[in-house]
Amino acid sequence: MTGSKSFLVAPSLLSADFSRMGEAVRAVESSGGDWIHLDVMDGSFVPDITFGPKMVADLRPLTKLPLDVHLMIDAPDRLIPAFAKAGSDHIIFHFEGNVHVNRIIRLVQSLGAKVGVAIVPSTPVHALSEVLGLLDIVLVMTVNPGLGGQELIPECLEKVRALETARSERRYRYLILVDGGINRQTARAVRDAGTDVLVTGSSYFSARDRREEVLFLKGTREA
Ligand code: DX5
Ligand code: ZN
Repeated sequence: MTGSKSFLVAPSLLSADFSRMGEAVRAVESSGGDWIHLDVMDGSFVPDITFGPKMVADLRPLTKLPLDVHLMIDAPDRLIPAFAKAGSDHIIFHFEGNVHVNRIIRLVQSLGAKVGVAIVPSTPVHALSEVLGLLDIVLVMTVNPGLGGQELIPECLEKVRALETARSERRYRYLILVDGGINRQTARAVRDAGTDVLVTGSSYFSARDRREEVLFLKGTREA
């Protein structure tokens, strides 16, 4: 159960109007969002394309909130230095398709950003066992990456439980992020599974009252 634990909410700009990104950042700030989540897609790791480091650089002066960059791209090491230089606070790359995960973790750390690894629904938690102790963030995808507005896959929440258990047994420091399909209906199950940060795209940006939406997702207001 969640008890009195407090949760963070990270609205994803993927669901914002791309012609008004600055306004979206200010809206996240004024509605009580904790982090700004930026979904970077390259048209190869996932079919769609979003934006690159320049978006991070242009948004950086607008907010003091952490910029949480989720790289859904092949060969992330090619672009990680540019994303770090642009002002990313957190750089999260995908485990899948990267043989040298340990090396990429060290690269992010050497550039002064917090480092996270993301896993898609078909990747088990034990694939990360050798690197969990190095991470600041583990991002559990609860939809297949590439698209906002999909339905949460409930089986993925078992992985959140496993990560929470591993963290308390082995005194790891990572925060657990859940990304995909979080809304008023699914948020409670996500919180109860042991997440720390709820990423939200479509539910947040389509909400009539975004401040209220953040409170619902955090569980401080009941739906
Ligand atoms: C999906 C992205 C998510 C997405 C979540 O590939 O990683 O961050 O924006 O969107 P919703 O909340 O609409 O599922
Ligand atoms: Zn994301």
